[in-house]
Amino acid sequence: MKKNTQKTIVALLGSPLKGNTALLLENAISGAKKAGATVLQYHVPHLKFSSCLGFGFCKKYPSCQMEDEVTALFPILANANGCIIATPVMTMGVPGALKSFMDRCQVFFYAKYIRKDPMVPVELRKTRKTLLLAISGMNRPDNFDGLMQTINTFCDIVDAPISESLFIRDMDNILDLKTRPDFLQQAYEKGAKLAHEI
Ligand SMILES: Cc1cc2nc3c(=O)[nH]c(=O)nc-3n(C[C@H](O)[C@H](O)[C@H](O)COP(=O)(O)O)c2cc1C
Repeated sequence: MKKNTQKTIVALLGSPLKGNTALLLENAISGAKKAGATVLQYHVPHLKFSSCLGFGFCKKYPSCQMEDEVTALFPILANANGCIIATPVMTMGVPGALKSFMDRCQVFFYAKYIRKDPMVPVELRKTRKTLLLAISGMNRPDNFDGLMQTINTFCDIVDAPISESLFIRDMDNILDLKTRPDFLQQAYEKGAKLAHEI
């Protein structure tokens, strides 16, 4: 397969742990790197940042009044070719830190929809995509419904719609993803596919 050397993927890990979600992401990143992409990984719960305090600075400007590790990430996210989001379900939705990160990306919303001056360069907007990897402890059909509302909204405002996803339920019984090489292989292949498509 043709290598894709210039593509950059931002990978966001929503779990606070280096556990099953991290392992799944690691496999997706390996696939993306093998396919030639550069992957910048961020362990979101361990970034130093505050949740949105609603100053409204981003209504006028393409950044945030608060200067922290998330503010520094805006230009990196805006200029990436693709995104991987790997997250567990917590309280039937996106874990708090990842949700706070996504709230801070309201800067992309105001730029795109209110000021009509998107932060994502026009040529990237046509091709940006997201791979979503999501894990839940329980095995319910609606496990990912809450999470999907938030993630789809985030992917819309940052112009990186979900192109591929991998949902793993019943983790409370599976316990250790190393016992499921089929899932790890799927993550690897989906990471490689993302790198080839962006
Ligand atoms: C604080 C917390 C809340 C959780 N809430 C849910 C939930 O609402 N529904 C569910 O199916 N699993 C829930 N889980 C289970 C996780 O989704 C599951 O254990 C997952 O495998 C964690 O991945 P990790 O070990 O990579 O962080 C919760 C786990 C934690 C720690």
